[in-house]
Amino acid sequence: MAEIVELVMASPKYARLDPSLVAALAAQEAAKTRRSKEAVKQVKNRLHQSVAAYWQGAADFARWQELLQTTADEGSRRAALRALLGAHHSTRERLPFLDTFYQTLFAGLPPPSSVLDLGCGLNPLALPWMGLPATTRYYACDVDHGQVEFLKGWFALAGQPGQAFVCNLLAPMPPASRLLPTDSPASDVALLLKILPCLEQLDRHIGPRLLAGISAATLIVSFPAQSLGGKGKGMVQHYSGHMAQLVEGHPWQVERFEFPSELVFRLRRGTS
Ligand SMILES: C[S@@+](CC[C@H](N)C(=O)[O-])C[C@H]1O[C@@H](n2cnc3c(N)ncnc32)[C@H](O)[C@@H]1O
Repeated sequence: MAEIVELVMASPKYARLDPSLVAALAAQEAAKTRRSKEAVKQVKNRLHQSVAAYWQGAADFARWQELLQTTADEGSRRAALRALLGAHHSTRERLPFLDTFYQTLFAGLPPPSSVLDLGCGLNPLALPWMGLPATTRYYACDVDHGQVEFLKGWFALAGQPGQAFVCNLLAPMPPASRLLPTDSPASDVALLLKILPCLEQLDRHIGPRLLAGISAATLIVSFPAQSLGGKGKGMVQHYSGHMAQLVEGHPWQVERFEFPSELVFRLRRGTS
């Protein structure tokens, strides 16, 4: 198994990923075949679908950091952030409605003292569009070490308190306390933006476990309304049904928002 992990991680495409995710998939694939070459191929396929396929070319984090550091004013910084948000498919699709996305989703909520962004991708770069109070602590985690290091630099520059950290959301039930760095309060708002379909490709039982394990008052859960190839047939209907199953029997108040390429549900606890 160690050999499979090593061979997968030798590929630059997967080298930045947390080894715990690669090891979990390697164990599953090694149990299906005795041929390590085949297991390596299957692990790479699965990692491609859930992580690597979203990147538009190779990320040059050092150059990005430099770019953000040298922006002289708010306008040029926002322009640079928009360009960087375009490097990841998930945030790129959100650019046409970024100005209204968070305004709509945060409307009517009490100002959050903390936000937890799970499987964040490059979404923390959208902080200037979120309109959060300067005191809101923003916690962002992802399975990609390189990206998390880059986001740490961004937080320092943005002046928003908070932290970027590595997480593997498929690790045996991460209770909320383990999703957050040890010095943090429980989060007020948790963002699970377009993350469930990725995780469910690797573990189809993760949805209920993950939602139940997050101790935020509000959960904002979204799904793609179109595939990576731009096809949208039936996806809104499919994920609406999926969400209905996930919340069945839970005391969540559910609100639904439809954006051009993203279907969003806002779940609030304790209000019905
Ligand atoms: C479809 S993208 C969504 C990114 C972001 N939430 C957004 O909507 O802009 C999925 C993200 O989940 C991350 N991811 C995939 N598997 C993960 C895991 N097991 N644990 C944590 N993050 C994971 C990927 O690295 C990627 O950044």
